[in-house]
Amino acid sequence: MITTGTKIRELLNHDHQQLDAMLGAVLERIRTESSPEIVEQWAGYEDSLLSHLDAEEMYLLPTVATRDGDAVRTIRHHHDAVRASLAEIGIGIALHQMKLQELRIVELARFLQEHAAMEDAVCYRRLDVHVSEVHYQALVGRLRSTWERIVALPTSTRSSQRWVADSLGHLRTTQSDA
Ligand SMILES: [Fe+2]
Ligand SMILES: [Fe+2]
Repeated sequence: MITTGTKIRELLNHDHQQLDAMLGAVLERIRTESSPEIVEQWAGYEDSLLSHLDAEEMYLLPTVATRDGDAVRTIRHHHDAVRASLAEIGIGIALHQMKLQELRIVELARFLQEHAAMEDAVCYRRLDVHVSEVHYQALVGRLRSTWERIVALPTSTRSSQRWVADSLGHLRTTQSDA
């Protein structure tokens, strides 16, 4: 059984939107206060983004690579840059260098928006009917386990719980449609 590109595209673009909103909330908090919750909020965002990158690399890119190796190499290169940026910002937040992290987060947000547009054009739209149902379900499961972990955190902020609840609802719909 195979999964259509439309479904994959919808799922991953929805995840991009959620991640973008989470990063926006981190930025807002870093600009207005220096509460200890920022460390956990950042960790939740980092966890969610890494899960998205892993899911793409594990379950989608191998399929795309058979048709477009150059695009996949570019995407993997972007992911490496994102991981390096996450490490840098995470350490900066732990060291309370908030002004510098604010600039880095703005830069990361811009990079991720460009990456998302490129990925949608060269990857999501071109998957069509080439992804097996098993791979698709594994991808959904990878995203879902992260969201469930985040919502269970005792100090999850109300706003992040709202996004997580929204994402879980979306994934449940996606799974029941499968
Ligand atoms: Fe990506
Ligand atoms: Fe993506």
